[in-house]
Amino acid sequence: MNTKEKLIIFDTTLRDGEQSPGASMNREEKLRIARALERMKVDVIEAGFPIASPGDFESVQAVAREIKDSTVCGLARALDRDIDRAGEALKEANSGRIHTFIATSPIHMQMKLRMEPDQVLEQAVTAVKRARQYTDNVEFSPEDAGRSELDFLCRVIEAVIKAGARTINIPDTVGYNVPGQFGDLIGSLIERIPNADQAVFSVHCHNDLGLAVANSLSAVINGARQVECTINGLGERAGNASLEEVVMAVRTRQDVFACDTTLDATQILPCSRLVSSVTGFAVQPNKAIVGANAFAHESGIHQDGVLKSRETYEIMRAEDVGWSANRMVMGKHSGRNAFRTRLQELGISFSSEEELNEAFARFKDLADKKHEIYDDDLQALVIDASLAIENEILKLVSLKVCSETGEKPQAKVTLLFHGEEVMGEAGGSGPVDAVFKAIEQRVASETQLLLYSVNSITSGTDSQGEVGVRLDRQGKVVNGQGADTDIVIASAKAYINALNKLIASDDRAHPQA
Ligand code: KIV
Ligand code: ZN
Repeated sequence: MNTKEKLIIFDTTLRDGEQSPGASMNREEKLRIARALERMKVDVIEAGFPIASPGDFESVQAVAREIKDSTVCGLARALDRDIDRAGEALKEANSGRIHTFIATSPIHMQMKLRMEPDQVLEQAVTAVKRARQYTDNVEFSPEDAGRSELDFLCRVIEAVIKAGARTINIPDTVGYNVPGQFGDLIGSLIERIPNADQAVFSVHCHNDLGLAVANSLSAVINGARQVECTINGLGERAGNASLEEVVMAVRTRQDVFACDTTLDATQILPCSRLVSSVTGFAVQPNKAIVGANAFAHESGIHQDGVLKSRETYEIMRAEDVGWSANRMVMGKHSGRNAFRTRLQELGISFSSEEELNEAFARFKDLADKKHEIYDDDLQALVIDASLAIENEILKLVSLKVCSETGEKPQAKVTLLFHGEEVMGEAGGSGPVDAVFKAIEQRVASETQLLLYSVNSITSGTDSQGEVGVRLDRQGKVVNGQGADTDIVIASAKAYINALNKLIASDDRAHPQA
């Protein structure tokens, strides 16, 4: 029997992670990620900041409606209107949490809030009491706790616990703390606050000095029992503590930690890939746990050691965090049932028969071009099929590209734009540039291309290419994705997906009467 205490994993990819410049996600994307987090058995999913925008409110509401096994959390400043909005967004949650915060460091109180410490304390207590009118599950964060004065921090925390907060989250908002000192801070708070036993202590560390994971782990050693983190370490500025690193450090070093998580770690890699593909943020090859080289052994000495005994150079098993042998699953003779069953085994289900049919048609198409279809191919194909359904206004009908040495590449695209077939033709510095210009000839989106990336999904020259595109129009940033064995077609799909998101956000901002 496992006698260890539980370490609660609070994922904030959809809230703090979304604050990475360029990582904004729409409701469908947030839902897709929330489902993957639930499948991974994350305890709490912070789905957004409902007061921030109508889109954020709708996303939190949609996640709260659908997710049943994880607690869904909404962020709110310590203000009545924020808390009411969060309470409203979480109304239908099976298990909902309101996370309210106010800054407690001298610099934030004086320069940002222009409030006296006693006013801050009073506002914190009022906010917690208001949040308790919506749910028993209230979390409070003294923002910039890492630079706050200990005595004042103790006073605020004691008061908010008395007011009903059940989780106390200590943020190192600016990533200023170092491990030994941050661990001591958590230990001192737990020891000094008389009612500390009535709340779970949590930490939320930023990575400005590259110490977010180290600080979080030091806090856990000193009594924290919730860690706030994000997939791939996404987040404001240099990001947050990365979920995969925190979870695997605690699991691998059970000799050091008095607690463990109940996360299904085999879902880590699929989740990491999904977040990277949705946000357009590539994972660096040498990233711990989820980087392409995390389990690759280049040196002859290491390879020899691993062949003799895996433990010589590996402290974790790649398969335990979701790296599979990427096994060949199907070919062109596989039927619809086998396709559905294999996807179910991968944790992917369809919300409608239309989605399943669309994905199966694509599978057949792909099987004609590529003999061996791997799990990663299936996952990319399903995402591509659901994107095609989302692309309601602008659709790719066909594409022709001519590329020849010494000649300027030319592209001809046929699109369905608002239900009408239109054609665009343009030259460009390369085939992809020509395709984007041909699309723009008809759409005139006035956007700026911020990012273009291509990634091969499996190995071999017949692999599908996964393309990410980031577009900016007057500060509105969207990411588009597309996958195909032809990377020029994948590029067109990604560009069209991003344009559809921009058009959809225009329609939401200016709904037709
Ligand atoms: O970094 C921070 O302080 C935050 C709080 C809202 C918890 O994100
Ligand atoms: Zn933060």
